[in-house]
Amino acid sequence: MAHRWTNTLTHADITPEAAFLNRRQVMAGLAGIGLAGMATPGAAQEALEPNTWEEITSYNNFYEFGTRKDDPAKYAGALTTEPWSIKIDGLVDRPGDYDFKDIMSEMTVEERIYRFRCVEAWSMVIPWNGFELADLLNMAGVQEGAKYVAFQTALRPDEMPGVQFPVLDWPYREGLRLDEAMHPLTIMATGIYDRPIPNQNGAPLRLVVPWKYGFKSIKSIVRVTLTDQEPATSWNMSIPSEYGFYSNVNPKVNHPRWSQASERRVGGGLFAKRVPTLMFNGYEEEVAGLYEGMDLAKYY
Ligand code: MTE
Repeated sequence: MAHRWTNTLTHADITPEAAFLNRRQVMAGLAGIGLAGMATPGAAQEALEPNTWEEITSYNNFYEFGTRKDDPAKYAGALTTEPWSIKIDGLVDRPGDYDFKDIMSEMTVEERIYRFRCVEAWSMVIPWNGFELADLLNMAGVQEGAKYVAFQTALRPDEMPGVQFPVLDWPYREGLRLDEAMHPLTIMATGIYDRPIPNQNGAPLRLVVPWKYGFKSIKSIVRVTLTDQEPATSWNMSIPSEYGFYSNVNPKVNHPRWSQASERRVGGGLFAKRVPTLMFNGYEEEVAGLYEGMDLAKYY
């Protein structure tokens, strides 16, 4: 299995305001001479101040609770998250229904401060707490022949007012190639700012894949299936011309209806400016190798 990834972003790295503004001026200067899109190490380090708890928990996408950004904070409280059981099945040695509490007692939970980029061109920096998905998959024992991992969100019409509308083909479904799933950057998040993850952010556990657009990071997971076939995913089933299986953050491949070259940091306030989006959301060094030889315009 891949080496464990060491988190290089900690609270100690939070850029002091003055230095942060300084870097922005440098970036603005680069823009002036036409170098702005370049993923320089300076750009990768830029503006990694985590968003506030308030921002992270009040501006959400969780369509099971409605399609407005403030719907999840309003309605997701109705979701019963205790007890919570996750079915792990398909090509695994130890299939079964695993209790969330039992899983947690087996896992090493750490903090990971990740950039989070939504396909709608907004982004946040979020201090997640979670464990590596690889640890969960290894617990279940991945069998030879497994090539993909499929995920499903709970489907509870009584608790989820949004699922009465056919916005998506419920339950919400996502998938990863096995090597993406096993990558040490891929985590199951269970907390934010050292507090249990709030319902609107996907309690009690949700996926976080920091180099992919936010919709891959499926919330409130009840089923994980190892398979040899590329799994169907909700957004691809709904609009295949706009949302592919890979969904890697890529400033060079635009969404058919808008550019993906830049993003707006949520909570930037009065001086909020769009910043250039980085290849693989700034994690190019860690993950580019997974896609060697693939045409990323074709496999979007
Ligand atoms: N998971 C489920 N089950 N339902 C959803 O509607 N929205 C996705 C993803 N996971 C979604 C989901 C999208 S589009 C984004 S951008 C992120 O969740 C948002 O995560 P956040 O609310 O924690 O920022």
